[in-house]
Parts: sequence; C-alpha cells; structure tokens
Amino acid sequence: MRILLFTGKGGVGKSTVAAATAALAAESGRRTLVISTDAAHSLADAYGVTVGREPEQVAPDLFVHQVDAQQRFEQSWADIQGYLLSVLEVAGVDPVAAEELTVIPGAEEVLALLELRLHAQSQNWDAIVVDCAPTAETLRLLALPEALGWYMTRVFPVERRVVTALKPVLTRAAGIPMPEDDVFAAIERLHAELDQVRALLTGAESGVRLVLTPEQVVLAEARRSFTTLSLFGYGVDGVIANRVFPAGGDDPWRRGWVSAQTEVLEEVEQSFAGLPVWRSAYRASEPVGVGPLLELGRDLYGDADPLDVPRSGEPLRITRNSHGAMLRLRLPFVDRSDVDLARDGDDLVVTVASYRRLLTLPAGLARRRVAGARVEDGELQVRFADEHGET
Ligand SMILES: Nc1ncnc2c1ncn2[C@@H]1O[C@H](COP(=O)(O)OP(=O)(O)OP(=O)(O)O)[C@@H](O)[C@H]1O
Ligand SMILES: [Mg+2]
Repeated sequence: MRILLFTGKGGVGKSTVAAATAALAAESGRRTLVISTDAAHSLADAYGVTVGREPEQVAPDLFVHQVDAQQRFEQSWADIQGYLLSVLEVAGVDPVAAEELTVIPGAEEVLALLELRLHAQSQNWDAIVVDCAPTAETLRLLALPEALGWYMTRVFPVERRVVTALKPVLTRAAGIPMPEDDVFAAIERLHAELDQVRALLTGAESGVRLVLTPEQVVLAEARRSFTTLSLFGYGVDGVIANRVFPAGGDDPWRRGWVSAQTEVLEEVEQSFAGLPVWRSAYRASEPVGVGPLLELGRDLYGDADPLDVPRSGEPLRITRNSHGAMLRLRLPFVDRSDVDLARDGDDLVVTVASYRRLLTLPAGLARRRVAGARVEDGELQVRFADEHGET
C-alpha cells in the first residue's frame, strides 16, 4: 500500500492535485481512497459531488472521505477535555471561555489524521492519498509523540500511579479535582495512536509531495517546508509545479508571466535536484469532476505511474566505520550555522530556525559523546566518538 501526502502554500492547488493523482491511480485499477483533514469540503468540490461522513465512491475504485475532524476530535479528546474543564471551573473560569481554552490550535487536523491510521490498518486500499493542510504544520505536530516519548515511558506511568493512590488526599487538600484514571488512559491512548500515525507517514511506503506554483514567494515557502519535513523524518518524493502558464500568443501580459515563471521553474529544478518535478498547465477553466482531473493527472505524470515513485534515500541513517558512528539526517537548504545541536539524556535535540526535533538515539549511540557535526550536501552529519577512543 502507498500513502501519498500533498502539502504546499494555501491555494496552490493541493486539493486539485491530490484529487487528480487519486483519480489516475484508481483508473489503473488500484483501490484508492483520498482523504482530507480540511474542514472545508474542497475534495468534494474538486470531484463535483457531495460527500457524507463515510467514504463515498466517486468512480470505479475511487473513494473520497472528508473526515469529520470535529467528531473525531470529540471522541478522542472528550475525557481529557472533561478533566481540564473541571479544573478550569474550580479556578473560576467562565465555562464558555474554558471551552475555548481546551481547544488546541491545529489539534483537530492532527486528530483527523487518526482516521488515516484506521484506513491503513483496514487493508482495504492499495493507495491512500491525503490532502493536507498548508505548509506541513500538521505533520510537524505529529512529532509530538516522539518529543513526549521519554516522558510517556518513564514519568507518566509513575505519575499515574502516584496520582491514583493519593487522589482522595490531594483533592481534599488542594481543592482541585484530580484526574480519574480514564483521563490517564485517554492520554496514553492518544499518544500511542499519534505515534502510530507518525510511524506510518514517515515509513517507507509513504511519500510527501510539495505542491507549488512557479512564483518566488511560493518557492521560498516550499523550500522551507522541505527542510522542516526532512527534519521531522518525512520523505519528500516529488514536487508539483501547478498552474504553469502555457507559452504562445503575443499578449504582453501573458509573455511577462511566462518568462517570470520560466525563471522560477529553473530555480525549482535546481532547488529540488534529484527529485521529480511534475508540471501541470494553468487550465482555461477550473478542473472540476473526474474527467478534467484525469486530464490534469495525465498532464502531470505523463506515462509514469503516480504511485511508483522511488523515495530518494532515507531521511535518517546511521552509518559506522572504524572511527565510530555517524548519524545522518537529510536537511536541505541549511548551513551548519542554521543548526543548533544539544544533548538531553538519550535525546539529540536538533533545532533549525524555530523548529525543534527531539531525536531519540538508538541504544548504541546514546552512550557515546558527540565528537563533531557538519552539514554537507544537504545532510547533517553528527559524528559520535568511538566508545574505546575516549576516556
Ligand atoms: N492547473 C489548474 N488550472 C486551473 N485552475 C486550477 C488549477 N489547479 C487548481 N485550480 C483551481 O484553483 C483553485 C484552488 O485550488 P485548490 O482548492 O486545489 O487549492 P488548495 O491548495 O487545495 O487550496 P487551500 O490551501 O485553500 O486548501 C480551485 O478553484 C481549483 O479548481
Ligand atoms: Mg485544499
């Protein structure tokens, strides 16, 4: 099974391209599901249909699922939110304001991805295509379980036992309700589920496609997304340049756009060297419906199979030689000075701009000292001292 994720700046055509790719995959007989985590019903709009809460068939082998994030959100979050609300109530916070406070921005999107996990486990699909939120914010949020890993395995179980044992005393003394065990259970479940989704999306069968339009600001953002996605271990397997103005005619306005886009497209090819860059033309009308989307899909991929794209290398690798071990993390477009490294117990903390990843080191490396680091060919290389070479 393949999982393809489409992300990019707002309005560049993510939903359209995701819908077109799915239509193309289904046309060749693969059972394909396309899902959106977006509250707006843009996938349904792209196919020109109305969809309900369950996966709906729009063509042979092609199904659309507009995840009802709100509903998902309430199921997973209800126990935890209920507890938070009871604490806020004791603190005298107005119930309406409290309701607002317990909604985490972006959390709905993330929880909608939980639905993906169920679909992947169902063995129902040859391909799942995901229409993601702009610029990979959601995917970044999925790093949360990894960041909480140490806490969840070591501290959380202890805390849970202590709180459960002392609950009657604490509640009386502090006047604040202590969480019931189902709150802990809910947190644990959520953590495990999110971790599974992350593992699925960073796994070998998943690939992220960056959708852009050939414009400087859009390219700049796509480059930043590529860095961030790589930092968090997502494998980008291709770039889609959408809304390319067809050359021809002698209207100066059009000639201006064609020449500006040609320049940016060259930069796109250079920026993402080694990755396929698929192009689709700016159509004369909105590509709505399976027919027009299939046309757009063929324009994009030509004769190539949209599902059969090799990933260009693992985002994270560990290599060993006689001098010790080296951790290699793909980090395109950064200099060594952009990267901050720190050690926190068994974790390596990698910071790039405002993004931070806690990388849990495998046992073999966790005991060793970091001997040096550099950035070469879009890769962060962290050298670990040989165990025997140091005192
Ligand atoms: N190649 C194209 N030619 C003409 N129109 C296009 C093309 N690609 C997309 N569009 C149109 O552009 C609009 C925006 O596309 P779409 O909704 O796919 O963007 P999006 O990136 O998903 O937006 P959002 O960030 O809001 O989710 C739609 O009306 C769509 O039909
Ligand atoms: Mg969209």
